[in-house]
Amino acid sequence: MKFSRRTHWNTEETALARALAARRRSALPVLDLTASNPTRCGIRYPDDLLEPFESNEILDYNPDPRGLRRAREAVSQYYAMKQVEIDPDRIVLTTGTSEAYSFLFRLLCNPGDEVLVPVPGYPLFDYLADAESVRLVAAPLVYDHGWQLDSAALEAEITARTRAVILVHPNNPTGHFTSSADSEQLFAICERHGLAVIVDEVFLDYPLESACDVASTTSFLDRNAPVPLFVVSGISKILGLPQMKVAWIAASNAATPIMQTAMERLEVLADSFLSVGTPVQVALPRWLPQRDAIQCQIGARVTANLKALDSALASQHVPWVSRLRAEGGWYAILRVPAVLPDEEAAALLLERGVWVHPGSFFALPSSGWMVVSLLTPAEEFSAGVQVLLESMAEIAENPA
Ligand SMILES: Cc1ncc(COP(=O)(O)O)c(C=O)c1O
Repeated sequence: MKFSRRTHWNTEETALARALAARRRSALPVLDLTASNPTRCGIRYPDDLLEPFESNEILDYNPDPRGLRRAREAVSQYYAMKQVEIDPDRIVLTTGTSEAYSFLFRLLCNPGDEVLVPVPGYPLFDYLADAESVRLVAAPLVYDHGWQLDSAALEAEITARTRAVILVHPNNPTGHFTSSADSEQLFAICERHGLAVIVDEVFLDYPLESACDVASTTSFLDRNAPVPLFVVSGISKILGLPQMKVAWIAASNAATPIMQTAMERLEVLADSFLSVGTPVQVALPRWLPQRDAIQCQIGARVTANLKALDSALASQHVPWVSRLRAEGGWYAILRVPAVLPDEEAAALLLERGVWVHPGSFFALPSSGWMVVSLLTPAEEFSAGVQVLLESMAEIAENPA
C-alpha cells in the first residue's frame, strides 16, 4: 500500500508530549496552563441545555445542504444582535471550523495553491491545509505596542498561486483584533491580487481589556469588504460547547455573481457530506440565545486570571517575565528569559508540575516565549503561574 504525500506527517509523539503522558501515568499532579476545553474547566451550563434532544423533531430527517433554515436563521440572529445583517442564505453550517476551512480550501484552491496566514497563529492550520494539498505561506505579524499586520511583508509573499488570506480575529494566541486600518489595507491588497479573505471569528465574543479600541472588535461581516469574504465561527467558543460540533461559514452579502457561484459550490460541497447532525441543528435556535450565561463565566474567568497574572508579574523581584498586550481570546503570551530553547524550558516546568505551551507551538521564535491559557480554573492558574515565575527566575539567574 502507498500513502498520499499530503498525509506524510511525522506522527511520532514529541518528547514533551511523552513526558506529559508519563507524568499523568504516574499520577503526578499537573497544573495545566494549556487548558482550553471549557467542558473541563468548571463552566456551568444551563440546566435545560439538553431539552431540545427530548423533542420528536430530531427523529425527522429532512436535510438542507446548507443546514436547517431555522438553524441558519438563528446564526443570522446572532449577528443581528451585533448590528450585522447577514442573509441566512449566505450561511452554510459545518461540524466545526476545521470542516469550514476544508470546504473553503476545496472551494478556492487547486492542489499546490497557496493560502497566506499570519504567524504566530493557530497550529492546526498546517494539518488542515496539508489534508487539502494546499500550501500555507506564513505572513509574519509584527509586535509594536500590540500586534499588527505587516502589509508590505504579506503582499511580498503573494505569488501566482496565492488564492486567499486567512485572518483570525481576534487571533490565537496573540489575542489581537485586526484594526479597521489593517483590514482596509488587507482588502486593498486582496483586491489588487484577486484574493479571497477568510476570517476566523471564533473568539469574537471575548474581548479582553477595556483599553481595546471598540471599532476594532467588530465582525468582518460589517466592514464592507470589496473582495470575496468568508467568516467562519462556531459554538465551540461562542457557547463553550466544542463537543456539539456546530460551526458555520458566513459569506458576505455582496450581491456579486462570484459570491452567488461561491454559495452554489459550497452547497454542493456541503450536500456531499450532510455532516451536521439534525439534533444539534434543532437545538441551535434554543442554544444561541443562551450564550450570555456561558460567556459571562468564561469572560469572568479569563479576566480574573489575567488580573492574577498581572499581579504575579508585578510582584517579581526582577522582572524576568512579562506579558504581551492581549485584546481578546483565551490566551496570554509571556516573554521569558531566552536562555533555553522553549521546549526545554517547558520540559523543565513540567518536571516541576506545570504544563505550558512553548511559544514555538504557535510559531513564535524558538526561545523566549511561552503561551498560557486564561481558561484554567483560578486556583490552578495562580499556583501554576507562581511555579513558572520562580522557575524562570532560577533559570535566568543560574543559566547552565
Ligand atoms: C483560531 C481557532 N479557530 C478554530 C478553533 C476550533 O474551532 P472548532 O472547534 O469549531 O473546530 C480553535 C480552537 O482552539 C481556534 O483556536
